[in-house]
Amino acid sequence: MSDWQIRPERPADFPSIRKVLVAAFGDDEVADGVDRIRESWIYRPATSLVAISDGEVVGHVMITGCTITSDAGERTVAMLTPLAVSPERQRRGIGGDLVRAALAGAEEAGVPFVMLEGSPKYYGALGFEPAREHGIEPDYPMPDWAPPDAFQVYLLPAYDPADQTLRGAISYPPVYG
Ligand SMILES: CC(C)(COP(=O)(O)OP(=O)(O)OC[C@H]1O[C@@H](n2cnc3c(N)ncnc32)[C@H](O)[C@@H]1OP(=O)(O)O)[C@@H](O)C(=O)NCCC(=O)NCCS
Repeated sequence: MSDWQIRPERPADFPSIRKVLVAAFGDDEVADGVDRIRESWIYRPATSLVAISDGEVVGHVMITGCTITSDAGERTVAMLTPLAVSPERQRRGIGGDLVRAALAGAEEAGVPFVMLEGSPKYYGALGFEPAREHGIEPDYPMPDWAPPDAFQVYLLPAYDPADQTLRGAISYPPVYG
């Protein structure tokens, strides 16, 4: 049985979330990015979640917004990043629970899909698929170290494969620099 609860983040959690991010990623870069996200149009508090165990923040996930450009123009879609679990609490299912809870929030918000860059092994097991199979590509070159199919999507019930506005190039919001 899991001994953690998942709920939306609150301002009082922000310092503890920073500690989890720094411990999981090894430096301040992602935590600084999360601070910028919270000040930007892409922030979605309802899908910015924490896992709490013994009263402490032990994990964090964000689904925010990004832009897809198709022949029909631009529209906002959803992007999952970052995901982090305290190193001493990893490999117990907290990361998977955070992803599933954030996807449920995105579904409730009526978004058609959630994209991310990450391990196809980890996210494939959670139901993500290679984005290019659905006509969704990054508008930037993927880094050399990224595995093939690192660019992935999770299709939600609001996704309509016939909707051409959902096929195109994803661009990262300027908040990512
Ligand atoms: C990725 C991360 C969030 C997973 O959290 P978690 O709570 O350990 O995840 P779960 O317990 O749900 O799943 C663990 C499983 O995923 C696997 N896994 C974890 N990270 C992985 C990765 N980068 N690539 C492939 N598999 C991975 C583990 O091997 C484990 O499987 P196993 O126990 O069968 O070997 C956590 O390892 C983390 O914070 N890492 C550092 C930050 C990071 O890289 N975030 C993702 C990119 S934004």
